[in-house]
Amino acid sequence: MRDQTRDKVTAPRVRAAKGGPKLKMITAYDAPSARIADAAGADIVLVGDSLANVVLGRETTLTVTMNDMVHHTRAVSGTGPAALVVGDMPWLSYHVSVEETVRNAGRFVQEGGAESVKLEGGRKRLPMIQAVLDAEIPVMGHLGLTPQSVNAMGGYRVQGKHLEAARGLIADARALDAAGVFSIVLEGVPDLLAELITKEVSAPTIGIGAGAHVDGQVLVFHDLLGLGDGHVAKFVRQYANLTEVATAAVERWFHDVETGEFPSEEETYHMPEEVAKALLSDDSMVET
Ligand code: KIV
Repeated sequence: MRDQTRDKVTAPRVRAAKGGPKLKMITAYDAPSARIADAAGADIVLVGDSLANVVLGRETTLTVTMNDMVHHTRAVSGTGPAALVVGDMPWLSYHVSVEETVRNAGRFVQEGGAESVKLEGGRKRLPMIQAVLDAEIPVMGHLGLTPQSVNAMGGYRVQGKHLEAARGLIADARALDAAGVFSIVLEGVPDLLAELITKEVSAPTIGIGAGAHVDGQVLVFHDLLGLGDGHVAKFVRQYANLTEVATAAVERWFHDVETGEFPSEEETYHMPEEVAKALLSDDSMVET
């Protein structure tokens, strides 16, 4: 349960944190990752649709469903973190209609225990974002390299490198800010553009592959800890190689099984001596 020495982080507190210490956001998908993120002092835990890539082993985020996301959000929120829990709305859950969007955002809160949701996209998604906000659900925006647009973008490419595209992203950020999102993720954009947007909007920006001049940073849990498939993007700093650590641990256990060193006396249950004697004296029992 929640670290009682930390105040609960809320969406209004995040929005008010602009200009203060850098915000720290990390993804989590289950109880162990949520507990680690919270114990380390995360301000925000994002149950990202990167679930598709790093947990379910898929190529893109496009196949992850509302049911998948709600299931994993429940696991994260169930740990009672001090960090704000953000549920990442999957592709098609907020594209069809305003009504469907509000219902799906509501599922994150009612069934998943999330305290806010994240949606990719700018002005195009404004009616949906506005409706979710009207339903009293705090919204985090996400601009730049939005992975759910991989097919439309023709791959995972840095966005906003050209003048018109950069101006478009600034307009998107202004629109999200005016709508009242509590923060905006900027992913895969040049650092100058991220800096300009950060100065332009009152909501804190949280960067991933967006340089240093943003209000906070986010990384994917498995990337940061070296639990991925070996491929790491340029913007990832890997602080551990848990795949190596875990593989070595499992190898040691297999070795101990092979040599008979596992299990030891301390790792074994015994029955009371008299029960053992009686059992062994049964005629049908083979002598040990
Ligand atoms: O799904 C995710 O992990 C994300 C972050 C990279 C921002 O959207």
